[in-house]
Order: sequence, then C-alpha cells, then structure tokens
Amino acid sequence: MTDLSVRLDPDFEPEANTSANRDFADVVSVRMSRRSMLRGGLGLAVSGFFAAPLAACGQPSRAEASVTGPTLGFNPVPVDTADRFVVPEGYEAKVIYRWGDAISGHMPAFTPDNTGADQAHQAGMHHDGMHFFPIEGNDPWEGSSTDGLLVVNHEYIEPRFLHYGHARGSELQTWATPDHSGPRPSDHVLKELNAHGVSVVRMRDAGDGNWQIAPDPRNRRITGLTRMEIAGPARGHAKMATLYSPEGTHTRGTLSNCAHGVTPWNTYMCAEENWSGYFVNTDDELPREHARYGVRTDVGRHNWHLADGGEDGFVRFDASSKADSAAGDYRNEPNMFGWMTEIDPFDPDFVPVKRSTLGRFAHEGVVFAPAEAGKPVVCYSGDDSRFEYIYKFVSEGRYQPGVTRGDILDTGTLYVAKFNDDGTGEWLPLIYGRNGLDESNGFTDQGDVLINTRTAADIVGATRMDRPEWGTVDPETRAVYFTLTNNTHRAADDVDGPNPRGPNAFGQIVRWHEDGEQAATRFKWDLFVVAGPEGDSRDMNGNPLDDTNILSSPDGLWMDRDRRLWIQTDISEGVMNRGNHLPFGNNAMLAANPETGEIRRFLTGPVGQEITGVVTTPDQRTIFVNVQHPGATTSPADFAAGNFDSHWPDGGNAVPRSATVAIRRLDGGIIGA
Ligand code: FEO
Ligand code: CA
Ligand code: CA
Repeated sequence: MTDLSVRLDPDFEPEANTSANRDFADVVSVRMSRRSMLRGGLGLAVSGFFAAPLAACGQPSRAEASVTGPTLGFNPVPVDTADRFVVPEGYEAKVIYRWGDAISGHMPAFTPDNTGADQAHQAGMHHDGMHFFPIEGNDPWEGSSTDGLLVVNHEYIEPRFLHYGHARGSELQTWATPDHSGPRPSDHVLKELNAHGVSVVRMRDAGDGNWQIAPDPRNRRITGLTRMEIAGPARGHAKMATLYSPEGTHTRGTLSNCAHGVTPWNTYMCAEENWSGYFVNTDDELPREHARYGVRTDVGRHNWHLADGGEDGFVRFDASSKADSAAGDYRNEPNMFGWMTEIDPFDPDFVPVKRSTLGRFAHEGVVFAPAEAGKPVVCYSGDDSRFEYIYKFVSEGRYQPGVTRGDILDTGTLYVAKFNDDGTGEWLPLIYGRNGLDESNGFTDQGDVLINTRTAADIVGATRMDRPEWGTVDPETRAVYFTLTNNTHRAADDVDGPNPRGPNAFGQIVRWHEDGEQAATRFKWDLFVVAGPEGDSRDMNGNPLDDTNILSSPDGLWMDRDRRLWIQTDISEGVMNRGNHLPFGNNAMLAANPETGEIRRFLTGPVGQEITGVVTTPDQRTIFVNVQHPGATTSPADFAAGNFDSHWPDGGNAVPRSATVAIRRLDGGIIGA
C-alpha cells in the first residue's frame, strides 16, 4: 500500500509551481551572488541586502518616525524544550480559550466523546490567526480593553485527538483515524468539519487577567458547513457552478483558516490556506484550477466524501465529474476554496462573503495598510507554498470612513510581486487581456484569471518565494514586512535576492517600502533578518543571532501600535528539536525593534506546538497568543500507550488542546515595553 503519511501530513506543503519565471538578466545576477556566497558564505551573499535605505517617498519617512524605535524592556527567555509555557520575569500567562470550550447553544461540556453537533457549539481545534474586537464595535483599535469579541481561526484538526474516545489505544499518526479509508461514520465527518472554521466569542476580563467566556447572542461558530456568498468577478462564473448553487453565487464553509485580516471598517477576514488536500478528483485529467493547487487524484486528507450517510455536504469533497454538467455535481467544488472570506463579528446573521477579487491561492492571511480617507484601500497577502508569490490588492473605490464596507474589495486590481536583485521591485497587474492573460493562455475573463490566480502570476513573471506567511504594515513608516518561513526544496543554484539560501531550512523576513503612495506599483526592499542558528543567521545589521534570539521558520508577524514587531515561529513537528533544529527548542515568540534590528525571545511554548496568532487589547496591557497543535510530535506507539508528548494545558494524562493564552504584566504595564 502506498505510504501516504508524508502527503497527508498537515504540515506538508504541496509544491505545485513548475514555472521557471526567471529571465536571463536575473540568472546572470544570481550567478554573481552565488559566486559571492561561494567565496564568503552567507555574510557576503546577503550583506548587500541589509540596511539598504528604505526611501520613504511621500509617506512618513524613517527620519520622521522614532529613530530609536520602541523599547524592549523585558529579559529574554531562554530556549526551552519542556512541556510548558514560559513568559519573561514579571509577566503571567493564563489559558482562556481551549479547543472544546463551549460558547453557544446548549453549552456542551468538553469530553473526548463530544458529538459532531456538540462541536458546533465549542471552540474548534488548532487555533491560528485572531483579533480582539473591543465590544463597542466601532473601531478595531479603540475601545474597551476588558470586554470584546475574540475572533479565532481554527486552521485544521488532529483526528486522533479529536476522536480520542474512538481512537484511544490505536497506533495512529497525526492525520489518521481508525476509519480513514472508509466508510467513515457521518458523525465523525460532521465533528471534523465543525472543528474547522472560526470562533466569535465574547470574552471579559473578570479582573486580574482572568478572562472568561461570556454568554452573548453574537457568540457563534462558523465552520466548514456554514452558508457563504461569493462576491467579485468569480461570482456567477461557469467554473463556480455546483449542484448546491448552479448559478455559482453561494457555497458552504471555510477551511484551513490560517492567518486573518482586520478591515478598516471593523470586520474580520479569514484566509483559506491548505485546502486543496481535502479534495479528491479521479477524472483522467485535472483542470489547471485543480492541478496548479495540488488537488489529489487518489485520497483526501480526511476522506470526507466517504461518509457512510452520503450527506451532500460531505460527498462534495469528491470533485470527480459525475453528471452531465457542472451544475449537477461537485467538479467545481475545489474552486469554492482558496479565497479570503469576510465575517462581521458583530452581526450574527451576517452571511460570510468570499471576496474573489483578492485572488485564489493558499492564502496565509491578508494585511491592510492603514486606510486614508479619499485614497484606495490597499492590502497584501502571501501564498504559502514553496515557490509561490506575494500579492497586493488596490481598490478602485476610495476609502470613506464610516461609509466604506466590504464591497469596496469587489472592484480593483490584484498585483503580484516581482523582486529584483538590486533591491527594487515592481507590482505586476493580473488583469484579463493584458500581459498574456487572454485567450492565448486559456483565460476567458477576469473571473477566470482570479480562479486561476497562480497560473496568471506564473505568466506575468512573479518572483518565486520561500513560502510567504504573515505580513504586517508599520503604522508609522508604512513599510511592509513579510515572513518567508523556509524552503528546503530551493536549490543552491536557484537563489535570488529575497530568497538567498538554498536549501533554506530556517527562513527570513523581507520588508519593502512603496515608491510614493501605498498604491504605487514600484517598491524598494531589504531583508530584516535571515533566521537560523548562531552560525547561519544575520540580523538587520549583518550580525549573527545569539542565544537570546536565535529563531527558525518565522510565521506569525504583527507590529503593535508602538511598532514592536512580534515574530512567531512554526518549526514543523517533523524537524522540531532534532538535527539542524536542535538549537531552537520549542516554538517561540520574539519581539523586535524595527529601527535598531534588536530581537529578543519573549515566550516559549509547550512540546509539539507552534505559536501563532497575536494581538493586544487597545491599551496594550494584555497580549493574546495561540498555542496550536501541542503534542503533534507524539509517535503512533506513544499515542497508543497514552504517552502524549504534551498534555498541555490541562496536565496529568489529558489530551493536549490548542488554546488561546492571555498574558499580562504583573505591574500592569505595556506588554513588551
Ligand atoms: Fe498555516 Fe502557512 O501556516
Ligand atoms: Ca501560519
Ligand atoms: Ca507555518
């Protein structure tokens, strides 16, 4: 039998980009930098990309911004490998929202035997991107710091823990259940779909940092089954027609919600990242809107289509052609995913909207530049797979505070980034009829360009990046930062300026400044940090990292209102605490000063997890972070024996649970200062 363990590993990033996308000039300059690397190692190869002046051009300049940057006033915590959550001296951390905690309906208490229906009223699994919306509901960054709606993504599931009452005692890998090859009990499939998606939950600080879930009519779970609307050029497209919505205007569910975005009009965007593996298409030939995204031809990650009840919401994950036309089956169902989906947390009746103008790919998240009245809305999004791209959206409409709503995202231009090795870059528009995005390359209209965003970006010549993850925009200088988490598939002779190592085991953070307005089509970039151990890393000033700040695989990224840059790591469970990743310990969160380049490790998490999701209350006295997939490193034999690598947060022999943690300073001060 084929060993599916690698391809079904949730951490497996399908490599689906076979385009070359490098012209002769690029190849020559890469050869030059390759020679530099061979002569002098990493330092010489990348030194030209550090501390390059980021010309400000019309935005508040670096000179106008604080030249010393924000304070980092805490003592860095050491690397840690124990099953615990560690914060700096003078801080305390409390677990406030665990997988299985009830928020709505009949408020079912958590047990390893909860039903699929129970799970629809409980926190999902694998917490990821999140935001704290102050309860006033007027502004994402102003208002109460003790009462608000916490909105949390639940990226994926670990079935052996989700179904522990059923899986107990079996030798199972992280992705497996005893019934994986089917038929699958429909209630298990329901529980899995309901453990995905998003939570909206009212949380109140009862005093002394004891945040508690508060009953509220706005508490809701959005899951892999929630009805949703399609907006923008893909709405009503022939490639969006399904048996559920023959007119191609609606669908069900959001999946693989990794990072998020917060709109200037106070709504939440959840990203659909590694969704392709959930589908199977057994047709002889896959359309490029499936193949270019890694849709499988043999088996699905959870084989939901094998549900024994044959429910329509479950069998749709088989995207094979079965009827005479697309309106009679689910051959187009994979086209319903890969979008940015908008949710209004304050309106429990709001039907989530997939905003197709932002493109279809493995969206890690979306980050909005601060909106300015009378100017276009600008946001950025990375496609997290090996050799994929970074995108930018510029709205056609102009931002009007208090008036603009999500439909401003339905009209505008999606661009993809081309980074030149000389420190400049350009945004290449993905517009039907231009730059080869026409019938000669198989495109019929703008909806088709967006459904096939990756192919369109290949054709215009985008730069193949080392897995773009989160981004953030400096609220003062408007510089944009993006994590490039790692890319072990990059060859030594295939490096370029922003992706200077091949293979790249440790990742880097790139940043750029637009030439003029945020909507500009040219930019200047540099590398903020090349991550790695002491012998293979460089900070902004060209110095190696040390034991206070070595890191690998930067993923979560957020700049707070004081301009502290929070960096979260996602070393995958396959390499964590072994081989070249021994020096890093468990995944961690660090804080950086964007002006001086100083970086300090702020916290470390328990065994087998990643730290992801970060936001403060408006007063910056509480910071929320998520711990995702504790115990995922547990071997099949240890799982069968009940010896999980982590029992966090409940301790004893408990099943590990992803959870949100609230951290505060014992003296009530600003986090990180
Ligand atoms: Fe879900 Fe790219 O991390
Ligand atoms: Ca991530
Ligand atoms: Ca990651």
